[in-house]
Amino acid sequence: MTREELIARARAAALKAHAPYSGFHVGCAVESVNGEVVTGANMENACYRLGVCAEQSALTAAQHAFGLAQVARIVVAGGPLVEGAIAGADTVAPCGGCRQAIYEAAALSGRDVEVVCAAATGDAVTVSTIRELLPSAFGPDALG
Ligand code: THU
Repeated sequence: MTREELIARARAAALKAHAPYSGFHVGCAVESVNGEVVTGANMENACYRLGVCAEQSALTAAQHAFGLAQVARIVVAGGPLVEGAIAGADTVAPCGGCRQAIYEAAALSGRDVEVVCAAATGDAVTVSTIRELLPSAFGPDALG
């Protein structure tokens, strides 16, 4: 799938977010080494601290669809919901916890997973790898 198609999948997933408390809708698309794609969105809760990020939602789907060790690329996109549409020209970066979750998949595969951060609208995109986003990471190796 092209990067643009994957961003479109992440943006579409953001429309399925359950984010009534923050009003910030995030979608995530995870692509496997074989080109399979799964998506997820953030899922907030009335007990605020129980909210789940889009990346963790999508990684859980990836775990079941093809396995974390097959994860090759992750796209995150989203922004505030404004009049029924997801707005915002700024890219959405994975939070620290999500970087750690993405790192787990990277460590399992031995692959430096590509992370694409996109805005809800426009062409703003940043492309990096999880090792760039989370240097000196704590991972499974540390546990022996
Ligand atoms: N959020 C994500 O889904 N992923 C991130 O990496 C950053 C933040 C969600 C969590 C919460 O539902 C909303 O965005 C506002 O923080």
